[in-house]
Parts: sequence; C-alpha cells; structure tokens
Amino acid sequence: MSVIGIVSMKGGVGKTSTTANLAAAIASKLGPGRVSVVDLDPQNALHWHFGLDTSDLSGVCEQSLEDMNWRDIAEPTQFDVACLRYGPGNEADREAFETLLADEPNWLGHQIERAGLGDNAVVLIDTPPGPSVYLKQVFACADIILIVLLADAGSYATIPAMESWLDDISDLRPDLGNMYILNQVDTSEPLSRDVVDLLRQHLGRRLAPIGIHSDEAVSEALAFQQPVLAYDPHGQASHDIARLSTWLIDTLNQ
Ligand SMILES: Nc1ncnc2c1ncn2[C@@H]1O[C@H](COP(=O)(O)OP(=O)(O)O)[C@@H](O)[C@H]1O
Ligand SMILES: [Mg+2]
Repeated sequence: MSVIGIVSMKGGVGKTSTTANLAAAIASKLGPGRVSVVDLDPQNALHWHFGLDTSDLSGVCEQSLEDMNWRDIAEPTQFDVACLRYGPGNEADREAFETLLADEPNWLGHQIERAGLGDNAVVLIDTPPGPSVYLKQVFACADIILIVLLADAGSYATIPAMESWLDDISDLRPDLGNMYILNQVDTSEPLSRDVVDLLRQHLGRRLAPIGIHSDEAVSEALAFQQPVLAYDPHGQASHDIARLSTWLIDTLNQ
C-alpha cells in the first residue's frame, strides 16, 4: 500500500489537477482495482476530473460523520480510479468533520486501513492549500508528500515555511518521504527557466526530475471532465504526467 499526499502552501498551483492526472496515469500503468483518490478539500472539485458530475452526492465529509466504510462510498470511474469525493456538505457538517479530524489525529490512516484496499493499492489524497486539519491527517499517514510548486517567485517564497513544517513533522514521522513537483513550467519564459534553475540548486534531488509543462489541455480536460491523459494523450502535459507517474512508481518501489 502506498499513500501519497499532494500538498502546497499556495492555492491554484495545480494540486487537484495533478492528483487526478497522476492517479489516472498510474492506473493506466498498474491496471484496474489498484488506484484510489481521496478528496480532502472542501472545494470538492476532484471528482469533476473523472466525469462524476452529480454534484449533490455526499462524500467523505458527510459519510464519515455516519462512520461509513470508505469501501462502500468510493465511486468507480471509467479511468480505473476509485474516487472518494469530499461532498458538498453544509457548514455544520464541515465543522463537525474538522472537529473529528482534530480530535483523532490518526483518523485518515485508520479509514484507509479499514477500507481494506489491499497491499498493492495506491491512494492519492488531494488537500486544501496551507496548514489545516486535513494536512495534519495526511502528514500522519502518508508514505510520501508531493509538494506542488509553480516556477514563480510566489511559490519560491513559500518554500521556507514548507521546509520548517516538514522539519517539525520529521520528528514524528522520520520515514515520511517528500518531493517537490514543478507545475505549469514554461520553458519559453526566461523567468520560469531561472526559477527552475534556482529550485534545482536549492532543493537538489528533492525536486522531482520531471516537471509538468504549462499546457492548456490541462484546463480543457477538466472542462470535458476527463484526466488530461484521456483528453489529449499525445500532448505535452500528458507526456510529462506519464513520465512523472513512472518515476513515482519507481520511487515508491525503492
Ligand atoms: N500544467 C498546467 N497547465 C495549464 N494549466 C494548468 C496546469 N495545471 C493546472 N492548471 C490550471 O490551473 C488552475 C488551478 O489548478 P488546480 O488543480 O485547481 O489547483 P489547486 O488544486 O492547487 O488549487 C486550473 O484552472 C487548472 O486547469
Ligand atoms: Mg484544489
């Protein structure tokens, strides 16, 4: 079993797109029945990437308050990825859910275990930006954290805060892996190239060897409610995501 948390300090950097697209790419390599995604972001957007458009269906938030087993609430998708949406919830449900998460630090790991997904399952978890009870849960049970960055000064500026957080966590979870992933790289932009160079110097081998280029197919795929690999299989972003998924599978197997 491999649990992968997708996180960032900033919003809008591509966490949800990357979670969905990587999950679909990993599923296309590993085959059906292996990959699940969990949406732990109250924005409740992840399921859109998989064509699950019935937006009033409840999900992890509401169902967890009723102590449902995740195995029974995961929705199959046509992309061989089982999807647990956050659910639309109301403010009271969200608050009750967040209180539950604050009270039970190992709740997420326990739910994943209870779902009985099998030893060779891969679970990717999408999170809201910045510190939250959701992120704490992911830090408590993940095998690896993928930190999504844009190749810009704004993302660069968030690294010290993320690093100090990872430092704190490493006392509790010395085995927790972490890697930075660059998204929306535009190699025709000198500034983007400079930031990539700077990040390579700063992060060394903790920067994933493959970045995801800026590619409008990523946004278009969401409009068509598909992972980019299904929408534009031969495009630049699909190529990057496919390579990144191979790298990730190898990293998890090491
Ligand atoms: N590689 C990319 N190329 C072009 N647009 C992208 C790329 N990755 C994400 N986007 C777009 O950026 C926006 C934010 O992405 P999203 O995944 O919702 O970020 P987050 O979950 O971090 O808030 C979306 O409109 C998405 O389509
Ligand atoms: Mg998101």
